[in-house]
Amino acid sequence: MDRLTRWKERIESRLREVFQPSGPGTLIEAMSYYLFQEGKRVRPLLLVALTDALGGDIEDAVTVGCAVEMIHNYSLIHDDLPAMDNDDLRRGMPSCHRKFGEAIAILAGDALLTYAFEVLTKRENFRSLTEEQILDVARTLAVLSGSAGMVGGQVLDITEGAELEEINRMKTAALFRAVFLCAGLISKVEESRLHQIAGSGEKLGLLFQVTDDILDGDGYFGLLGESKARELARTLREEILNDLERTVGGITPEISILIDLVYRRII
Ligand code: IPE
Ligand code: IPE
Ligand code: MG
Repeated sequence: MDRLTRWKERIESRLREVFQPSGPGTLIEAMSYYLFQEGKRVRPLLLVALTDALGGDIEDAVTVGCAVEMIHNYSLIHDDLPAMDNDDLRRGMPSCHRKFGEAIAILAGDALLTYAFEVLTKRENFRSLTEEQILDVARTLAVLSGSAGMVGGQVLDITEGAELEEINRMKTAALFRAVFLCAGLISKVEESRLHQIAGSGEKLGLLFQVTDDILDGDGYFGLLGESKARELARTLREEILNDLERTVGGITPEISILIDLVYRRII
């Protein structure tokens, strides 16, 4: 079995280990609904692959990756709501509010987000990190998924006149930036390198959104036209590979496959 498949299986099994919420049954069912649909898991896989390349503890990366998936899936539940994108389907299935009703979907999103921080702040969940490092990881995810990151980006997305680049930098790329930063923190890399690695994460997040827009025929596709949008995707991919070559000290086969997984959706 290749390493990426093994890591993905470990992410799935670790999710079931750390996700043990108590509370009303319907709420827990709604919290579990998107989380266990087995999305691509691209964010936790990148976290693990980068941590591996940087020499950090893989198992701790898997655990942080599980918290990232909870934050990601909460954001999708809220993003699909009638007040936002009003989507009836997600991953080919009824969206959370279609299945459980709007009120439970809102509350399931709230509870998934807070549960992510329950996982991140449980000392026994980690084996290589000091309490200070755990705090840095949790704070990084809090800042970049909140008003200055993902949630702020969702607001810009529904704000007249907001710049597409800024929307995407916050709405999508902030969580990728957080993933790269967390890999650096888990691997205990020095401050200056950490910022360079974070920059590559943000670029990969932008690449993710450009490819998404090309597939959906909106966003960058609408703004730049198809050929310029594809050119932007190609340039971003090249830049990310060159940057990581320098900052991580080489592109492992797993990192290369994951970057191409983001990029190849368009070619
Ligand atoms: C979709 O993210 C939402 C965006 C940020 C555009 P993914 O495509 O990573 O979703 P899943 O989890 O794999 O379904
Ligand atoms: C979702 O963006 C971004 C977040 C949830 C932060 P989109 O609305 O573009 O993604 P899809 O199309 O619903 O997956
Ligand atoms: Mg949406």
